[in-house]
Amino acid sequence: MKRVLVTGASGLLGRPVLNEFCNASWDTLGCAYSRAVGVLKKVDIQDEIQVRQVFEDFKPSIVIHAAAERRPDVVEKQEEATKRLNVDATAMISRICAEYGAFMLFISTDYVFDGTSPPYKTDAKPNPLNKYGKSKLDGENATLDNNSESAVLRVPILYGEVEKLGESAVSVLFNPVQDTSKPAPMSDYEIRYPTHVRDIAIIIRKLAEKRLEDSSIKGIYHWSADESMTKYTMASTMCEIFDLPTHHIVADKEPSKGAPRPYNAHLDRSRLEGIGITTHSILFKDGIKECLKPFLKK
Ligand SMILES: NC(=O)c1ccc[n+]([C@@H]2O[C@H](COP(=O)([O-])OP(=O)(O)OC[C@H]3O[C@@H](n4cnc5c(N)ncnc54)[C@H](OP(=O)(O)O)[C@@H]3O)[C@@H](O)[C@H]2O)c1
Repeated sequence: MKRVLVTGASGLLGRPVLNEFCNASWDTLGCAYSRAVGVLKKVDIQDEIQVRQVFEDFKPSIVIHAAAERRPDVVEKQEEATKRLNVDATAMISRICAEYGAFMLFISTDYVFDGTSPPYKTDAKPNPLNKYGKSKLDGENATLDNNSESAVLRVPILYGEVEKLGESAVSVLFNPVQDTSKPAPMSDYEIRYPTHVRDIAIIIRKLAEKRLEDSSIKGIYHWSADESMTKYTMASTMCEIFDLPTHHIVADKEPSKGAPRPYNAHLDRSRLEGIGITTHSILFKDGIKECLKPFLKK
């Protein structure tokens, strides 16, 4: 029964999710695409034949579907390609999960909300402001419409161990933070709740284990860390923990440029806490210190 398939297993979230299940003695299969190295299986999740073969061979009981295009500014320019990955592939995986009797957990985002009336409970009405948020909401609906036994987990901005700083919207700030030669404007407008991917991985594993014993686990769930920050306060924290100069860090009080972002899409976690699924969130200053240390310039 404890057989988990993780899509997007080469990604920021997928890597710790796969580790979390491995460490808890699950049979695991991680799928990736351009970074399918080592134990990861190369599967284009837009190709139904390839996906069906994986289900036929591995017969998962649980599918954690994390693969997606998650960069809002890329999605604005590549709407059709995003739809094929974030929506059409999700619908297909959901249908195949239904056929094989596998429980599917679709990883979604706080960007399904417009950010005007936080905190958001799981039954709050979504109203995405940008094409990325819309594609993830469509992915949620494709998941639940094709298989009412499945679930969605919405999470906020993520950070964690990265292969390069550009891999997460949080760690990427460390480039301008370390370049003191020019002003580094940082958004001090939108309120975010940076959450460590290891904490999300724990929540996902606990939710999967609960589902094995309780078939009422389905529908929409939220998880988020507690600390409210802006990109400016995240950058200032990076300076503080590594004792770096701050003179070039400039607070930008205007809404972010590019794809519109919700002002404050704080996710209410009470539905998960109510069923005893919780974890102690690592403090941002501790979590980010560990992630950025390998990138600290001497
Ligand atoms: N990062 C955040 O701040 C954040 C916030 C909220 C929600 N989320 C959601 O969390 C999930 C995971 O995000 P992430 O940050 O871990 O994303 P990520 O690091 O950008 O990873 C994306 C993953 O999708 C895979 N992928 C892309 N195209 C594929 C294809 N055609 N076939 C198979 N796999 C494909 C990639 O594989 P290769 O790299 O091997 O090609 C990679 O493993 C996403 O659903 C995202 O919407 C993320």
